[in-house]
Amino acid sequence: MLENIVNTVEFLRSRGFIAPEAGIVLGTGLGGLTTAIENQIEIPYADIPDFPLSTVKGHAGKLIYGDFGGKKIVAMKGRFHFYEGYGSEQVTFPIRVMKQLGIRALFLSNAAGGTNPDYKIGDIMIIKDHISLLPNPLLGPNDERIGPRFPDMSEAYDRQLIAKAETIAGRLGIPVTRGVYLSTTGPTFETPAEYRYFRTIGADAVGMSTTPEVITARHMSVPCFAVSIITDLGVEGKIEFTTHESVQLAAEQSERKMTMIMKELIASF
Ligand code: HPA
Repeated sequence: MLENIVNTVEFLRSRGFIAPEAGIVLGTGLGGLTTAIENQIEIPYADIPDFPLSTVKGHAGKLIYGDFGGKKIVAMKGRFHFYEGYGSEQVTFPIRVMKQLGIRALFLSNAAGGTNPDYKIGDIMIIKDHISLLPNPLLGPNDERIGPRFPDMSEAYDRQLIAKAETIAGRLGIPVTRGVYLSTTGPTFETPAEYRYFRTIGADAVGMSTTPEVITARHMSVPCFAVSIITDLGVEGKIEFTTHESVQLAAEQSERKMTMIMKELIASF
């Protein structure tokens, strides 16, 4: 795998992706952040050696390099999901590549269903911890040159970045909450009984991504910061018919606020 990573990194460097400090992964309906990236170089995933192809509507599928928050960044507009049929190694390959390009921290976003009864659609939840019910991306032989066999997960989400983001949100007058994100394979949204079960075991929100990427980043000791935009509610009495389009629309409503927080956070980390 290391050989593929190095190969892809060489290709990206030859196209101008030089020494990014931060990696960004944008979730469903949250790609609007990319319009705030200056001096962009963008490459469709299809043109990048060893990258899988994104197949979901609303995931444009481009890797973007440029300036954001006064730093050089590399951003994924659209991510790869397990439910699309990719293996975990493919889903997380871009994170390996970002690390090898030189990122010092990873910033992620996603759309999620709120299981916490206090949440409303449009809320911004800073992820403080996760419960990963997706297959672990580190299953299989381990390459010690990349990371340890048994990575620690006691601080999957960097406490300093969380504290900084909360201060920034406060200054900007944007309300945020802190919660536990639970990942499932999808692609179905949950039944009411499943939402109740996930709430019972400690989830504030549920989605279909993020934890494989965070596990992979932590395997390589990259600090992570992630936010969920609450796009629907998995709370008894508030569960409504959910579609990919309704999730996208709700995420887009909060996208600008999330971008403001991310921009200042990246400027200050
Ligand atoms: N469940 C799972 N994934 C999701 C949801 C949900 O309710 N909303 C957005 N992504």
